[in-house]
Amino acid sequence: MTPHLFSPIQIGPYRLSNRIVMAPLTRMRAPESIPTELMQRYYCQRASAGLIITEATPISTQGVGYPAIPGIYNDVQIKAWKKITEAVHSKGGRIFLQLWHVGRISHPDFHEGELPVAPSAIAPKGDAVTYKGMQPFVTPRALELEEIPSIVDQYRLAAKNALTAGFDGVEIHGANGYLLDQFLRDGSNQRTDNYGGSLENRCRLLLEVIVAVSKVWGVERVGVRLSPSGTFNDMSDSEPEKLFTYLLGQLNRFDLAYLHIVDALESDIRHGAKVVELSALRRAYLGTLITCGGYDSAKGNQVLVNELADAVAFGELYIANPDLVERFRINAPLNTPDPSTYYGGDEKGYTDYPFLNS
Ligand SMILES: Cc1cc2nc3c(=O)[nH]c(=O)nc-3n(C[C@H](O)[C@H](O)[C@H](O)COP(=O)(O)O)c2cc1C
Repeated sequence: MTPHLFSPIQIGPYRLSNRIVMAPLTRMRAPESIPTELMQRYYCQRASAGLIITEATPISTQGVGYPAIPGIYNDVQIKAWKKITEAVHSKGGRIFLQLWHVGRISHPDFHEGELPVAPSAIAPKGDAVTYKGMQPFVTPRALELEEIPSIVDQYRLAAKNALTAGFDGVEIHGANGYLLDQFLRDGSNQRTDNYGGSLENRCRLLLEVIVAVSKVWGVERVGVRLSPSGTFNDMSDSEPEKLFTYLLGQLNRFDLAYLHIVDALESDIRHGAKVVELSALRRAYLGTLITCGGYDSAKGNQVLVNELADAVAFGELYIANPDLVERFRINAPLNTPDPSTYYGGDEKGYTDYPFLNS
């Protein structure tokens, strides 16, 4: 039978009732880096998604690069997340935590004046979002070879913390120009050691992180997110199709819960992205594939019918439509998201979008 958004799907050990995934969405509403009751309400409102992927969540203080982001590196955060996972489970939902290290997309203000770390000392163009407002990115410090195992260990510890916090799995954030993506692409990685240069070397850190996190969770509860065509955060690569088809060949060695692809966005095309087509990625990857980026119900069903993906994640539509599943089911009109309330603030533009019939 041809799959559609309402066909059930097996993801790792979980039978999901639909293929509608809530994309990871940073909302900057966790003062002191601790998840809040308001966040609990927000995620519970969206528990009818086949799968929720949380907002990107720093694995360590070194991994922080934005204000008011909830972490997963101390006991208070673990306890606070546990309340959220229990509440989502009580509503019948499934929730994966997105593990995040920002690398160079940060500012010394977050690190007691120390420089952010990156594969190479190359400053991204643009500004960091800090507690004092926007400030130009600085040139980061290139990680020493001896420090790389400690990065892998930060992922391992955070993965353990996520397990304690009661999540159903974790998604390794390898997309959107953050640390692991910075290692993958030659626009940001100019290393000459085992972690730079060849495709094998640039993919090494991500693969080591997958192995470490899978030892904690079992590989069937680990997802990976990539953005092969992404230009966000000043990203570029000389031959992205070659890089990402090579990487997907490596990922085929693991039986991951899923691979999550951020498709080329309009903004990437405006920034001159070398687009890697979803069809090429689908051919290269043999496991479960989630796609994301500019989908609505019709386009989502189309990509499933064309067998270019197995599930579809929705970002901005999920910000404005807590009952997106129900709205898609009966073809109801959608609420319009308000970008002015995406980042920071309170319940306005967060938990106050109306449900159908409310
Ligand atoms: C407000 C906002 C916050 C986002 N935060 C994250 C994030 O924390 N992690 C991530 O991987 N992507 C993040 N994204 C990207 C989305 O997950 C998604 O890939 C993007 O919005 C495109 O999908 P859409 O067209 O359905 O919105 C964010 C996007 C928006 C609009």
